[in-house]
Amino acid sequence: MSQPQQLVLKKNTSLKALNTFGIDAKAELMIAFKNEEDLYDILDHYNHYFRVLGGGSNLLLTTVVDGLLLKNEIKGIQVIENKPEYVVIDVGAGENWHDLVLWAVKRDYGGIENLSLIPGTVGASPIQNIGAYGVELKDTFVSLDAVNLETTVRKEFKLKDCNFGYRDSIFKSAEKENFCITYIRLRLTKPGHHVYKTEYGDIKKTMAEMGITKPSVKAISDAVIQIRSSKLPNPTEIGNAGSFFKNSELERTFVATLLGKYPAMPHFEAQNPEYQKIPAAWLIEQCGWKGQKIGNTGVHAQQALVLVNHGNATGVEVLDLANKIIVSVQEMFGITLQMEVNVW
Ligand code: EPU
Repeated sequence: MSQPQQLVLKKNTSLKALNTFGIDAKAELMIAFKNEEDLYDILDHYNHYFRVLGGGSNLLLTTVVDGLLLKNEIKGIQVIENKPEYVVIDVGAGENWHDLVLWAVKRDYGGIENLSLIPGTVGASPIQNIGAYGVELKDTFVSLDAVNLETTVRKEFKLKDCNFGYRDSIFKSAEKENFCITYIRLRLTKPGHHVYKTEYGDIKKTMAEMGITKPSVKAISDAVIQIRSSKLPNPTEIGNAGSFFKNSELERTFVATLLGKYPAMPHFEAQNPEYQKIPAAWLIEQCGWKGQKIGNTGVHAQQALVLVNHGNATGVEVLDLANKIIVSVQEMFGITLQMEVNVW
């Protein structure tokens, strides 16, 4: 078969600008594609181990990326179902997530406004079931298309097929790195049918401070943008991948024992009623890590869950810091933090 037309195979490319941590690791081979046909051509033509790169916003690069890195640039947002109460939209996986949120806010389509300003691509959003301020992707998710990287067969995954959990899906477990997501479909509410989620954290307080008296899709989005901008470092200024660890889901009895020792420990209900969530940020802060700097890496001063690259950190340096944090939280609380970020 002839080499796919118009597709440029790049060799030994720096990924520094393609991961929000700003780690200067290289990809041996990388190719970008803008539609499914080109993806099929690439999978048919090259006999490599394939990996998919989205926005690089939940990724820590600790080594050269071997195999062929597929850069998903499939674009497009289309309304495919238009009912009085809702629309279903079909979105190319290479669209920027926050651009999609702004597209929805502009049209007063509701459901993803709490997920404003999350870095990364639309195609990455189902992989870890992105979530923030009381909403998760799964709440609006209908289905997605994904191409199997080995068989090149396209498969539709409906909501129940994805096994969504807290920062989790089938694409992080049984089907890890087996598929390239090409399109996702979401159901968004139309005016008169919105269900606002304003209970979480500082949303109400922030809206009040902004002089907003009535919730709306736009007001919530603006408030979330305001909160995130004040707490989370902007990856274009300080390299980071958002929350580095997951919050810990622990058995209620264990949480009760810990509360005996640390009565001020924040704790929240988990989806499974037998478990409760402890903010990893609190555990990390108690161990004295908040705002600490080690070499080129550090723990963000406003949010202890975020590890940062202060300059030319390598992925290995960041991983070393993460492991030191895991050990100290384990020693102090007997809790093993789980990483949220994918380590390559
Ligand atoms: N806290 C501390 N120290 C800190 C920060 C927070 O003790 O430095 C405690 C406070 O008790 C606070 C609680 O942790 O009430 C929760 O903090 P926050 O609301 O900032 O959220 P989080 O649990 O730290 C999670 C998500 C974020 C998401 C926010 C808001 C995870 C792993 N992280 O963080 O997601 O934006 O809630 O919904 O679940 C991401 O995944 O990259 C991300 C940023």
